[in-house]
Amino acid sequence: MSTPGHLAALEEPQVTAARIFSLIAPELALVEEEFERQARSNIQVISFIGEYLRASGGKRVRPALTLLATYAVGGDASRPNAVRLATVMEFLHTATLVHDDIIDNAETRRNRPSINSRFGNQTAVLMGDWLYMSAFETSLLERSLPVLDILTAVTRKMTEGELLQLTTLGRSDVTEELYLDILFRKTAYLFSACCEIGALIGLADDSRRRALADYGLNLGAAFQLVDDLLDFTADDDALGKAAGVDLLEGKLTLPLIYLLEKEPGRKGEVLSVMREGAYNAVPRARLVAAAGVSGALSEARARAAEFAEAARAALEDLPPSQYRDALAALPTFILERDK
Ligand code: IPE
Ligand code: IPE
Ligand code: MG
Ligand code: MG
Repeated sequence: MSTPGHLAALEEPQVTAARIFSLIAPELALVEEEFERQARSNIQVISFIGEYLRASGGKRVRPALTLLATYAVGGDASRPNAVRLATVMEFLHTATLVHDDIIDNAETRRNRPSINSRFGNQTAVLMGDWLYMSAFETSLLERSLPVLDILTAVTRKMTEGELLQLTTLGRSDVTEELYLDILFRKTAYLFSACCEIGALIGLADDSRRRALADYGLNLGAAFQLVDDLLDFTADDDALGKAAGVDLLEGKLTLPLIYLLEKEPGRKGEVLSVMREGAYNAVPRARLVAAAGVSGALSEARARAAEFAEAARAALEDLPPSQYRDALAALPTFILERDK
């Protein structure tokens, strides 16, 4: 793909994934410490689960985005308020995962039993609530209405995404438009919020703040699309969570939406997997192969690549820096990620 000259430097990912994270390794270490502090409570069960969640790891993509965005606009992401808000973003993300695993009946997360499967649904609901509210409490230390605006809006949107998704379960007539609407709410707005808040803490002007919000939105869309592609094609071991489950749960994701557009005759197969909640009558490999042969799979990948490219393009007007380069390299890693 040819790109305008000034984007050429951004286009070449000379930056490796390890290098992106090593750029902000000290700040991410502070995020771990801050996470541990924020997850402490006089209530033993909360501390226990908080530590269980923290120690289970995760890629820490969202706090990394906040920190990189702060640096990319010339701010100092090692300052306590930057570290605190980066941690808030990971807390919010963790809360959504804890609730999402209840909703999806997921047994495994990050190669460990999910909170619901280990501690039960009641505990998981309340722990999710606790994480949300702790995140808000911490964010209030910033005394910033713009930050609070972004956080409340994104939290509402994530809940809307999950609710909207519930209305689509078991349906084979989900359109690309509806799928993307859910995907933006569920995932992309949080990525956007991470970047926009990073820009805010770095005291960016409005146009840079908007550019980073736009970058995050597109990056998040690519991320969730790739997550759905991985669910469709990968196996459990690579993901640290069960694979092939979206369809079992009745969720139609983009590769299958495209497949059904091309081959409406396969609706019966898709509905039978949803109804059965198993790939007995229709093997998973058959659907994956059909999506491959029909081009549905490569079209879904191309859609993810479009969002990744839009993310990169949004960075065009940021001043050159190693942080901008790191942000510019991230879309490629997201497209190529295998977990
Ligand atoms: C999982 O997010 C939920 C999605 C938006 C797909 P991540 O893949 O970032 O999860 P962790 O934090 O690395 O486990
Ligand atoms: C992403 O949805 C979870 C949230 C954004 C809350 P999924 O249900 O597709 O994510 P995984 O597959 O459980 O990580
Ligand atoms: Mg889920
Ligand atoms: Mg998924």
